[in-house]
Amino acid sequence: MFVLAHLSDLHLSVTPQFTELIGKRGLGYMNWLRKRKYIHRPEILDAITRDMRLCGADHIAVGGDLTNLALKAEYRRARGWLETLGAPADVTAIPGNHDVYVPQAQPYAAEFWGDYMAGDDGAERGVFPFLRRRANIALIALCSGVPTGPFLATGRLGAGQLARLAQMLEQTRGQFRVVLIHHPPVSPPRRYLRRLTDAAQFRGVLAEKGAELVLHGHDHRRSLVELAGPRGMIPAVGVQSASARAGHGGEDAAGYHIFRIDGERGRWRCEMLARSRAGEGAIRDIDRQTLYFSGA
Ligand SMILES: [Fe+2]
Repeated sequence: MFVLAHLSDLHLSVTPQFTELIGKRGLGYMNWLRKRKYIHRPEILDAITRDMRLCGADHIAVGGDLTNLALKAEYRRARGWLETLGAPADVTAIPGNHDVYVPQAQPYAAEFWGDYMAGDDGAERGVFPFLRRRANIALIALCSGVPTGPFLATGRLGAGQLARLAQMLEQTRGQFRVVLIHHPPVSPPRRYLRRLTDAAQFRGVLAEKGAELVLHGHDHRRSLVELAGPRGMIPAVGVQSASARAGHGGEDAAGYHIFRIDGERGRWRCEMLARSRAGEGAIRDIDRQTLYFSGA
């Protein structure tokens, strides 16, 4: 039995310097002061993190948007938080769109979180996708975060990453393949300006090569959709924000997912447990179900 925890979208914030508020960051900070600072609370993230540690996960996957405006100070704070989760070998992180909020922030992920974003092959840190094998699990980590203009939160994988993803899925066939990405593989029309622009190509790779599980964040809502695989359906599970206060604008209260994975090729079993901070208080189980997958 392998226990994998998934959480995402912390949106850790620090007060920016005045000179850092040029362009998109200025708009983002206004939005933070007006609204989002009341939603993403560090004390809620602390409670969620403490609760998750008790689940005894073998590995923790962090799904992006650790920072809010991709400020260096936010990256440093997120690094400290990652270290509270565990050693880099036991925690895998990927960037979200907020972590590359502006073009100049693009090198920061490798600089501050590089050892949490390193593949087993010892290749250059912060290069995506990367592959980590743990027991009979193959974790393939993608980066869909790209800098965008104001009022956009789209993501993109690009042809190079998609081609490497296809190779890695092929190479790890027979293992329980988990694909970790920030943006969802399917977005509703109201999220058009926040979608993964090459989602169709991403789904195309999954349909051809198969995968056992896709994990994403970004929407701040729990979701489960089934994607076409070569021999059946592939569950894609979205996790809500790990720091969000309850009941705001259709977003879910803070929580995380635990996956208990057991079995072998063609006979996998994966049970998902969702824990969430309901109301103003305790964190409790809100959903438990067995996922079905292609087993390709
Ligand atoms: Fe996001």
